[in-house]
Formats: sequence, C-alpha cells, structure tokens
Amino acid sequence: MAASNDLKALPFTLTSAGARFPGPYLDREPDSMFVVSVVQQKGGVGKTTLAVNLSGELRQRKMKVSLIDADPQASASAWSLPRKLGFHVRAELITSGTVSQWLRNVLKQQADVTIVDTPAGLGPVFRAAIDVADIVLVPCGPSSLDLNSVRNTLTAITDHLKNDNRNHPRVVLVPTRVERETPEGQQIGEELGALGETVSPALSHDAYYVRAFTQGVTVTTAAPASNAASEIRAVADFLLGQIART
Ligand SMILES: Nc1ncnc2c1ncn2[C@@H]1O[C@H](COP(=O)(O)OP(=O)(O)OP(=O)(O)O)[C@@H](O)[C@H]1O
Ligand SMILES: [Mg+2]
Repeated sequence: MAASNDLKALPFTLTSAGARFPGPYLDREPDSMFVVSVVQQKGGVGKTTLAVNLSGELRQRKMKVSLIDADPQASASAWSLPRKLGFHVRAELITSGTVSQWLRNVLKQQADVTIVDTPAGLGPVFRAAIDVADIVLVPCGPSSLDLNSVRNTLTAITDHLKNDNRNHPRVVLVPTRVERETPEGQQIGEELGALGETVSPALSHDAYYVRAFTQGVTVTTAAPASNAASEIRAVADFLLGQIART
C-alpha cells in the first residue's frame, strides 16, 4: 500500500492513461454511449464516491466521460470545484415536470460513458436514472441495515421495470466501505450474492476515498499505488466487462 500522504504528495496526472483501455468496448458502434446510473435508497453508502472515482478511472483509460450530478446536494459538483478531475461534471436536476427534458439532456452527452450520480431515495430521480441506464450500480454498505436498503432498492427497480418491455438495464451490486478484517466484511460478498444479482469487486473502508474528495481528486489519479486505486481499477474492469456483455 502507498504511504498515507501519497494523495497529498502526488500531483494530478493522466499520464498512466490508456494502456488498459479494454478491447471489447471499442468493438461497439463508435457513436454509442453507455449510461451507468448509481442508485441506492440509503444515504451515505458511497454513491458519489463510486461515481466520481469510477469516472476518473475511465477517463484515465482515455474514454470520454461525462458525470451527471442529479443530486440537489451537489456532492459530485463540489468534488469537481478545484477543477482537477479531468472530466466534466454537469449538474442536471430533475424538478417537477422536467423528467423528459432531463432524460434528453443525459442522452445528448458527447461521451463514451455517462455516469449518473443520484440522491438517496426511490423517487423520481431514482426512476429516471433507471430509465436512462444501460447499467445500474447499487453501492452496498456492509451492515444488516445496509442489506435491507439494498433489498428495498432491488425491489423498487423490479417494480419500476415490471411493465416496461424495453431492454432492462443490468444491475450490479458494489460492496462499499467493507472492513475486510471483520466477519461482516468477509461475508458481505456472499450475502449480496444470495440476492441473485451480479456482485462486483468490493471497495474497502479506506481514508483515501475521503481524502480524495477533500482534495478534489480521484484515487487512481492522485495515488495510483494505493489499495483504493487498485479497488477502483478492479471495479472499472468489472464494469467494462459488463458493458461488453450488454
Ligand atoms: N469506501 C469508503 N471508505 C471510507 N469512506 C468512504 C467510502 N466511501 C464513501 N466514504 C465516505 O462516506 C461519506 C459518504 O459517501 P458518499 O458521499 O459517497 O455517499 P453517498 O451515497 O453519495 O451519500 P448521499 O446519499 O448523501 O449522496 C463521505 O464522507 C465519503 O468520503
Ligand atoms: Mg452522493
């Protein structure tokens, strides 16, 4: 693991970009864009942390990335304020009566991948984010309360798509804030797997994620040798594998 001050010491750089850009995605139509929505009923599970760090890693792989901040709390927009992220964060809120315009705005992004960060909850933003997504990422914290909110989120996704005949988005559960040394941390992958959905590699509970937000950077650009960066790369690899299968 990198020294704990790596995020402070390392300048923002995109120099390690590109080399790992995987083949399957490039096989798709050149003008096709994938939309990845990050949703969860529960607040504070790491939606924004996942959305921003994943965007940073995909950008490092030379992909055109657009991050839509659909949360009135505007955490992703705040993250981008120091202008060090290297990709565009666009605040795009749904207010009453603007869902169809919001969907159009998301779909007109000029990007290879558009990632949508949503507020906690299962309301109109959640539903619009499901409608627009090719892949839905559901970050899941490791406590039993977290598992309840994951179940509720999955039920709400199923209910919303029940009468929808279009292709349904692929759902991927992302274990977050996992304390790997605890029994709960060791069991979370299995418990999530029992829910019958695809489970990605996990993100640990790690101060690097917190520090990246404070400094307006992402873990893979600012501390590429850190454990957190390896985890984000593993989730990005997994996501791109899923995209290749859609
Ligand atoms: N893997 C992690 N390890 C340690 N801290 C984390 C991790 N992921 C997120 N955090 C911290 O937890 C807090 C909540 O994270 P984040 O804002 O990403 O959650 P959220 O689901 O987007 O919250 P909200 O529902 O309020 O939008 C932040 O302080 C963040 O830095
Ligand atoms: Mg958030």
